Amino acid sequence: MIYISRDAHFCAAHKLYNEKWSKEKNEEVFGACANENWHGHNFDMTVTVKGRVDPETGFVMNFKDLNRIIKEEIHDKVDHKNLNLDVDFMKGKLASCENLVMEFWAILAPKIHEVTSGKASLHCIKLKETNKNYAEYYGE
Ligand code: NI
Repeated sequence: MIYISRDAHFCAAHKLYNEKWSKEKNEEVFGACANENWHGHNFDMTVTVKGRVDPETGFVMNFKDLNRIIKEEIHDKVDHKNLNLDVDFMKGKLASCENLVMEFWAILAPKIHEVTSGKASLHCIKLKETNKNYAEYYGE
């Protein structure tokens, strides 16, 4: 099994805020990310796909296809957007790194399966919200 990875980058605004809680509790749990007037992050993500090498191409999956799927299905929907207000698949969800990465998985996994005719599959999505904090998801 070979693993290939493609990096992507986007900038987005959000806030972490649970409407069921008081302002004080939100600030206690979410800190600066609870700021009601939003703030932004420069997100870095790595999408890793696994499969066997196709003898005709030498590829697990064509990076051109992987790049296009990430751009059209994720990047263009979140880049320079407000994750709480502008992004359909985040409606009603806390805009945390964990929830984002799970939603990205739900979108990308079937697309990768489709474009490779089931020969390659999504292995991992890593999403970095800051230089020090990131979430990884393996679909489990
Ligand atoms: Ni934040």
